[in-house]
Amino acid sequence: MFPIQRPRRLRRTEAIRKMVRETAVSPGDFIYPLFVTCGKDVKKEISSMPNCFQESVDELIKNAREVYSLGIPAVILFGIPEHKDETGTEAFAEDGVVQQAVRAIKDAVPDLYVITDVCMCEYTSHGHCGIVKDGEVLNDPTLELLVKESLSHARAGADMVAPSDMMDGRVGAIREALDEEGYELVPIMSYAAKYASAFYGPFREAAESTPEFGDRRSYQMDPANRREALKEVELDIEEGADIVLVKPALAYLDIISDVKDTFDLPVAAYNVSGEYSLVHAAAKMGWVDYDRIMMEVLTSIKRAGADLILTYFAKDAAKILNG
Ligand code: PBG
Repeated sequence: MFPIQRPRRLRRTEAIRKMVRETAVSPGDFIYPLFVTCGKDVKKEISSMPNCFQESVDELIKNAREVYSLGIPAVILFGIPEHKDETGTEAFAEDGVVQQAVRAIKDAVPDLYVITDVCMCEYTSHGHCGIVKDGEVLNDPTLELLVKESLSHARAGADMVAPSDMMDGRVGAIREALDEEGYELVPIMSYAAKYASAFYGPFREAAESTPEFGDRRSYQMDPANRREALKEVELDIEEGADIVLVKPALAYLDIISDVKDTFDLPVAAYNVSGEYSLVHAAAKMGWVDYDRIMMEVLTSIKRAGADLILTYFAKDAAKILNG
């Protein structure tokens, strides 16, 4: 007890603080989200997400090169297709935007690890993550589409697939199909505990995936639930998930911590669009210091237990971390 115990002794100088620091964030922890669109020479800034762009494949490659040169090992791709329809057929088209992007990135920057987001919402005309009938998002028929989408990504050369739809049983269905086609070494990162969150607002502009009617509360989790997250994660692990993801990150640090404590798989956290845009907006107003808030946010997500962080801050943070 005081005066013997003086925790301030270990805070006096930067040297000692560095020596006793418990959490280190590094560019190697990051996965950078990219939005790929059709056409050529397209680089359209997403107004609600400063410095994030919808890019055609040629522009995307330049971005991918930069990401790799900053020491960020991986990207996750989201596609904005040319046409949307009821069943989101472009999601699994051999020549779809994501499939083209995967091939182009693996060709130009072969060592950059390419993950694909597997979901129907960017490709369906109604903007829901699956097949819709009488206002309901149908679970089992949607699995077939997710399987097709995953296979088409693997055929294009994706290093990993990441289903984000929250249908029941999709990890098992995708695992079985990948194994059958000889892609048994393609891992699955499942968005295992994904909440129905208002923090996705800016993303829906970025990916043009706002649902035309209703919301996603019949498939994404209720933000009020904590134990249910462990059930979701457990099911995905049983079905063959290699990495489990919690989303969003910042308002769900307790969930990240629970998942880390309970299971022994790598844990990813998605520092989502709203978490990014809020920081930008407040910094623009001069109310907070962008760099410091960014690093504090990323450190807190890592401290809570995330091994990997999907974040739009990846490039800015890597520049600071690389000095
Ligand atoms: C697709 C998907 C979403 C996000 C990632 N994958 C949107 C949603 O579920 O509505 C959100 C990412 C973000 O907000 O940064 N299902």
